Amino acid sequence: SLCDIGFIGLGVMGKNLVLNLADNGYSIAAFDLDNEKVLGVIAQDKFENGENKQRVHGCSSYTELLSRLKTPHLIVLSVPAGAPVDQVSESLIGAGIQPDDIIIDTGNSLWVDTVAREKKYKSNFILFSSAVSGGEVGARFGPALMPSGSPYAWSRIKPIWEAISAKVDAETGKPLERTKPGETIKKGEPCAAYIGPAGAGHYVKMVHNGIEYADMQIICEAYHTLRAGLNLSTDEIADIFEQWNQGPLDSYLMEISVEVLRHKVTEDNIPLVDLILDQAGQKGTGLWTAMSSLELGTPAPTIAQAVYARSISSFKELRVQSSSLLNGPEAVTLNAQEKVAFIARLHDAIYCAKICAYAQGFQLMKQAEQEHGWELDFASIAKIWRAGCIIRAAFLQSITEAFKRNAKLENLMLDAFFIEQLNAHQLNWRKTVAETALMGISTSAITSSLTYYDAMRTAVLPANLLQAQRDFFGAHTFERVDQAPGKKFHVEWSHPGREMIEFGHSK
Ligand code: 6PG
Repeated sequence: SLCDIGFIGLGVMGKNLVLNLADNGYSIAAFDLDNEKVLGVIAQDKFENGENKQRVHGCSSYTELLSRLKTPHLIVLSVPAGAPVDQVSESLIGAGIQPDDIIIDTGNSLWVDTVAREKKYKSNFILFSSAVSGGEVGARFGPALMPSGSPYAWSRIKPIWEAISAKVDAETGKPLERTKPGETIKKGEPCAAYIGPAGAGHYVKMVHNGIEYADMQIICEAYHTLRAGLNLSTDEIADIFEQWNQGPLDSYLMEISVEVLRHKVTEDNIPLVDLILDQAGQKGTGLWTAMSSLELGTPAPTIAQAVYARSISSFKELRVQSSSLLNGPEAVTLNAQEKVAFIARLHDAIYCAKICAYAQGFQLMKQAEQEHGWELDFASIAKIWRAGCIIRAAFLQSITEAFKRNAKLENLMLDAFFIEQLNAHQLNWRKTVAETALMGISTSAITSSLTYYDAMRTAVLPANLLQAQRDFFGAHTFERVDQAPGKKFHVEWSHPGREMIEFGHSK
């Protein structure tokens, strides 16, 4: 009989999404250019579901894939972002895909590429996009899904997406865990909701990843401070993180950090983390978020800083060389009591830094929404991120509630709950930034968040002097606080009289 869904690309994410779809009762025609991968997923399906209940069927070509599907065809792509998406699209056109067929791109495509592709392939098929977050385990047992594009396509995909996505308890906002093959969760709120027109979903996923970069960097800076500043062991740091994970910092990233820190290798029980080369990789989504924030003129310095931190890490040789040439401060030694107090302050610092990183991400999405005429529902986006995705955290429930209180909230820092949190913890945050600076430890994301916070809460910034400088050398004009808004002024700086000229309203 014909299959419900076609699936192309059986890498780590693809394979697990296929098995997740199978758990939920869908039959799948699966194809990968590498036939070993096709055989691998079929074997896994047989192993999990038994010979008779097999739901995954292998295909050896695009043509075979199309012939094994119900019409109109529904095909999920899980291939690397960029050229592969076009290569597969062209191959499917060659194999006879029809205009009412739907292709869902689940990769981390650059959102403008998605917009262009939707147009480019309009007469060939409907390109829908739905980024997936959650890594291997998420894909297998419930990812967060960010669908966008044709509303017609969404009406077809919705029940499938809601079935395979992560679920959250409607009352507590806590994830409902699914860990075994064959299991499904029917109750709870699905972490899959329509985001908006083509490109909107990929934009939102891009910002998710930007926030992910910032969140990871902030945790890494806390680890570095405890390790290099306080000389704690990886187990001691894991204990601290474990304790933090009981409070507002409760998150998947914190949880996996604990597991990593506790992991020992070799006969000598060396912590694995001590053996890992300190050079971070990146695939581009953090960079794209930072670039978009610069283009839109909406500050996301913590996210940008997290990208820079990865770049700095890649200059290993230069860092090693500088470490013996450039001076830092004398080592600081703290007694047991001081250490406890320091750790408590560090907790508050990373909490505040995290609030700022999310505030930046959400404000950026708001700006993009206005720029592109999307209608984003921020409470719904925060809701989707409560489970399944990499940044899932108890914290996302607080963000959901903030946007439920005020759907038009301009910046998360101005929600009543977050105002209270920031006000209560900002002093410890400042102390941590000062203390780590005196220890010579680079806490760039934690510090960047603080300078963002301070600038954003400053009524009068030195941009007045800056405007005067611009006017001085380039006659760029300035506005005055004591005159009507929009009225421009210029001082004839090079004339002895330094007359002020008024320009009236500029456009
Ligand atoms: C997710 C992740 C996933 C991937 C990113 C980050 O939401 O499941 O964000 O998409 O890990 O591509 O990768 P880099 O750190 O390599 O940029």
